[in-house]
Amino acid sequence: MGNPVGRREFLHRSLGAAALAAAPLPFWARQIGAPVREFSLTAAVSDVSVGPGIRWRTWTYNGVLPGRERRVREGERVRVILRNELPDPTSIHWHGVPVINAMDGVAGLTQQPVMPGESFVYEFIAAPAGTYFYHAHVGLQLDRGLYGALIVEPAEEPLLSASPDREYVLLLDDWLNIEPEAALARMRQGGGMGGMMGGGAEPPYAGYLVNGKLTAAAAPLAVAWGQRIKLRIINASSATTHRVGLAGHQLVVTHADGQPVRPVTVDTLVVGMGERYDVVVTADNPGVWPLLVGTVDSAVPGVVVPFAYAGSNDRVRPVSVWPPALLRGRTLRYADLAPERAAPPLRPLAALDLVLGGGMMWSTAWTINGQAYPRADVLPITAGRPVRLSIFNATMVRHPMHLHGQFFRVMNVSGTPLPGITKDTVLVDPMGRVDLDFEADNPGKWLLHCHHLYHVEMGMARVIAY
Ligand code: C2O
Ligand code: CU
Repeated sequence: MGNPVGRREFLHRSLGAAALAAAPLPFWARQIGAPVREFSLTAAVSDVSVGPGIRWRTWTYNGVLPGRERRVREGERVRVILRNELPDPTSIHWHGVPVINAMDGVAGLTQQPVMPGESFVYEFIAAPAGTYFYHAHVGLQLDRGLYGALIVEPAEEPLLSASPDREYVLLLDDWLNIEPEAALARMRQGGGMGGMMGGGAEPPYAGYLVNGKLTAAAAPLAVAWGQRIKLRIINASSATTHRVGLAGHQLVVTHADGQPVRPVTVDTLVVGMGERYDVVVTADNPGVWPLLVGTVDSAVPGVVVPFAYAGSNDRVRPVSVWPPALLRGRTLRYADLAPERAAPPLRPLAALDLVLGGGMMWSTAWTINGQAYPRADVLPITAGRPVRLSIFNATMVRHPMHLHGQFFRVMNVSGTPLPGITKDTVLVDPMGRVDLDFEADNPGKWLLHCHHLYHVEMGMARVIAY
């Protein structure tokens, strides 16, 4: 094929190096001589199969949906060569990983967009360990399928007795088989109608995918009796809050957004766009069971994946509604979560009060304090001084709010004080409030935004700068 390192790429390389040298490095990046792991991601138009006989022409990394899972060890230096063979400019964001600002992949804010035919080299330290994902960060490209799992394994192996026997990564997606820009245009027109229902319109999804497949093509999760199975659940959807459950089993939640929590046993989980949960399932109930994934507002599952014990000849019967036993069971709430190791509180001296607005009859904008990004003021803060973000949702729909560049601690959810679990994305309920504290120890211009892709396209984002 021949993709010579062009002059533009050479410039990008040097710029990246300059930025590396100039930025004060946070604690986790002060490592020299870390082993380098290099891989490439080529964004291109591809044909993929999402179900039996169902081809879909879309945009992918390296021709596959989802993009290949990338697994590295904590502390390694990761170098990724992005090649853009798309008709449009692109960039990649390492969702949840606190990389230095110049490597954060927000086109127009932390880098120039990578133009068609050009390349860009990302380089960052993979830390801390956890479940992350990478995705395009230009316009609505994520909804076309430009995403994949990024797993950072702990530097030290966990004790043998504590480690699960098997692991599966589940990337959840909502499947749009029209151009996302066409969906957005319809939503803008339908703003009035949706507004009367109090939440704006949603894209016309044709179905839901787990690891790029509809139910009919879902790869079974093979397990054996007595095993402990780790599931890394990543919601890469653009506009769908998912519910996840496994018939016949409970889920022990061990990590939220990749960070360890005290284990909590639940029947179902609610996972916002951009959120991740690691759970452990004990395989003690032989058979073939449905693992269900679907929009939280519906009793109809979106995708069913067989959880299949070795030696069982059962088949998953078609599941038309969620099993009542699961729906009646315990659902994970943020208030159930506590950090595995408690850290001293941050005691923020500054606060940013943010009100989420929009979705109303007279407007198709989604706003923060009345402004729609990019026509919105930068929020300046002081480096090294902890800040409290206080976010109130004055709309009728949930918003999964994501902060780039650092984790925050969830201190309060709608009046309930919490013990400060570490997250980077948090669902804010309609008329709900969250208090999030963060250290401000990774200087740069960081995007704070709703991870509903169409809400951010219609303005629900701000830049926090320090
Ligand atoms: Cu996963 Cu700004 O995004
Ligand atoms: Cu939103």
